[in-house]
Amino acid sequence: MAPALVETPQPATNFAKNGTGEYKEAYIGGPRAYRQDAELKGTGKQPPAKYPNYLPTWDLEKKYPPLTPFDHYEHGKDADPSFPNLLKDSKVVDLTANIGAEVHGIQLSKLTDKGKDELALFVAQKKVVAFRDQDFADIPIKEALEVGGYFGRHHIHPTSGAPAGYPEVHLVHRGADDTTARDFFEERTNSVTWHSDVTYEKQPPGTTFLYLLDGPAAGGDTLFANQAEAYRRLSPEFQKRLHGLKAIHTAVEQANNSRNRGGVVRREPVTSIHPIVRTHPATGEKALFVNPQFARRIIGFKKEESDFLLKFLFDHVAKGQDFQTRVKWAPGTVVVWDNRVTAHSALLDWDDGQRRHLARITPHAELPTETPFDG
Ligand SMILES: [Fe+2]
Repeated sequence: MAPALVETPQPATNFAKNGTGEYKEAYIGGPRAYRQDAELKGTGKQPPAKYPNYLPTWDLEKKYPPLTPFDHYEHGKDADPSFPNLLKDSKVVDLTANIGAEVHGIQLSKLTDKGKDELALFVAQKKVVAFRDQDFADIPIKEALEVGGYFGRHHIHPTSGAPAGYPEVHLVHRGADDTTARDFFEERTNSVTWHSDVTYEKQPPGTTFLYLLDGPAAGGDTLFANQAEAYRRLSPEFQKRLHGLKAIHTAVEQANNSRNRGGVVRREPVTSIHPIVRTHPATGEKALFVNPQFARRIIGFKKEESDFLLKFLFDHVAKGQDFQTRVKWAPGTVVVWDNRVTAHSALLDWDDGQRRHLARITPHAELPTETPFDG
């Protein structure tokens, strides 16, 4: 493969120009749809927001410069693999045989640094962990950010709403009496959007925290897929072919989508080129690292070849219910996943106007790298 093709996104790809692609957003949120009164006071049918300090704001004027590289320190490498600090007083229940766990009996906000090192490794191994009965939403936002900041530099999302004064907190918010689900399903048959978060960044996130503030009594679960198991399911010959391939990931469609609905674009959208197979720095596991929300082209392949292979990989992950799990939210739940070795999807499956409000703390990790195929 010619080095120029490896290093340079191909201009013929029209996403770079106009953002037309497969990006799909089921939450039609943003400042135009937001109703501050309904959130603060309730609507008659729906109560006020439980966590008004976390309600979204959008500063249309504030712009951020391009991100600069930094050295990520992988704390999972320092962890005691028997997890004495993390799990000594806890109850762990696996959600499936190969992805996911639910943990009771510890407070993430009280972990020592050793406990945090173990958290990084434990989550890398389990891929996604639901910690129940947490005080994370109740402590000051600054303190929650300090916990997350241990794992890497905070990501500031280019397009999402954020609590006033805390742009590092990414909010998922669907307000009281919101009916966009009905509008959405006028156009689409399902809300499934498999992705890993912000993979268009040069150093996409690793250990990632998402916690519930308000949610419907039923519905709004989150799907997770084990991208390391997805890699292992492929034949050695197929795995071998994937090694050395790189894909373009783009933020352009997400930014255009935000602009179209009156939202913010805090940082000009970027594209990055990442290996299709990446290796986790703490576990050494190889995992697929492409997703249909942001990956658009395999470098060096013609368009039809690239579409063909990407479609296979996207379908492989989407259909792999035997390497997926489904996390149910409950008050006090903090879900921690390793964004390097998982994909996930929100589900927009309730339409009765119940509010859904979550906050995400999203530390960047290392530049994705792959290690050679080893059979
Ligand atoms: Fe996400």
